[in-house]
Amino acid sequence: MRSFETVLVTGGAGFIGSNFIRYLIGRKEFSGRVVNVDSLTYAGNPLNLADVEKRHGGRRYSFVRADIRDYERIREVFSEHAIDCVVHFAAESHVDRSIFGPRDFIETNINGTFNLLEAAREWWRDKKGVLFHHVSTDEVYGSLGETGRFFEDTRYDPRSPYSASKASSDHLVRSYFHTYGLPCTVSNCSNNYGPYQFPEKLVPLMILNMLEGKPLPVYGDGKNIRDWLYVEDHCSAVWRILQRGEVGKTYNVGGENEWKNIALVELICERVALARGEGKDRYKKLITFVKDRPGHDRRYAIDCGRIKAELGWRQEVGFEKGMDETVRWYLDNGAWIESVRSGGYRKWIEKNYGDR
Ligand code: NAD
Ligand code: TYD
Repeated sequence: MRSFETVLVTGGAGFIGSNFIRYLIGRKEFSGRVVNVDSLTYAGNPLNLADVEKRHGGRRYSFVRADIRDYERIREVFSEHAIDCVVHFAAESHVDRSIFGPRDFIETNINGTFNLLEAAREWWRDKKGVLFHHVSTDEVYGSLGETGRFFEDTRYDPRSPYSASKASSDHLVRSYFHTYGLPCTVSNCSNNYGPYQFPEKLVPLMILNMLEGKPLPVYGDGKNIRDWLYVEDHCSAVWRILQRGEVGKTYNVGGENEWKNIALVELICERVALARGEGKDRYKKLITFVKDRPGHDRRYAIDCGRIKAELGWRQEVGFEKGMDETVRWYLDNGAWIESVRSGGYRKWIEKNYGDR
């Protein structure tokens, strides 16, 4: 089993990255340090790790505000900290934004990943015991019909600028393994939900709109299907790969938990109503079908047999429990919501979609 002294986490101020840092620092098998490199875009929020900063700041945890598009700055991070593992989360991550403005996706997701790979190649040379783990998405595989699942060898068929940029970064990572022998692993995960997710993604957007009495915009006919995984289960999968994953390999990670969007939104309506002691159907009347997303992938479904069979990973958090905890978290964390609200989280949505 591998162990690491200093793990560089990119994008650690975002949704999954911040959950991962909290998870990693809490592992009894991990006694090392975490360096969080994040440029704090609209999606990065220092509050996401305020508890970790307070307990471990300057000792086991350090934050470095840096942009992965800036190669010199990334080289400095490698030279200042004896990094022996990279867990690369930093990305532009929202499909809708990639439709309106793809440039940042190309620059961060492709060029930024390239910079990290170059820095790792330069600093690690033939160093042993190092690992570059790249966090990616199931969206690189394209869109499924009613049947079938994505396997690790499914042909890539990205259909949005977001998924195309992630696909490109996956290929770059694998090319560094084959060409330079850089020890790399890749994971492709399905849709995550849980605490600290920025309210542009489906689950938190719906919860916050319910709290504000705003319409709940469901794209198209609402029958698009996503496979949902609780964020902590994604973190445990990444940790397994860091410890035991085979270098050069890709692992699919998923919830084995497919939902039509409309059914999921109805479920969230019920769970929010239940948590607030209100009638079950209180929020359903806010559901509004709106114009579909261009190129909207119909269905994603992940086969995660490999990581289960080879690394013994399992999803631990049942969907109802995970969803209730998520709803509770948004209801209990008014200060966090206020911070994203005062940062104008709705501005982009209003500019591009009007008041929904
Ligand atoms: P997020 O948008 O919540 O967070 C991204 C973080 O990256 C933010 O803190 C942001 O400030 C930072 N960042 C963006 N550009 C940067 C740059 N140029 N330099 C440094 N930092 C930068 O995203 P997330 O949902 O936490 O996703 C994290 C990773 O997981 C992404 O690579 C995404 O593709 C992947 N992923 C996400 C999901 C999901 O459901 N959210 C599913 C599968 C894979
Ligand atoms: P999203 O959370 O943006 O994740 P992704 O596009 O990466 O899967 O969207 C999840 C699904 O929900 C997707 O099919 C689009 C749909 N959706 C809506 O119907 N309404 C919304 O307001 C949003 C943000 C998404």
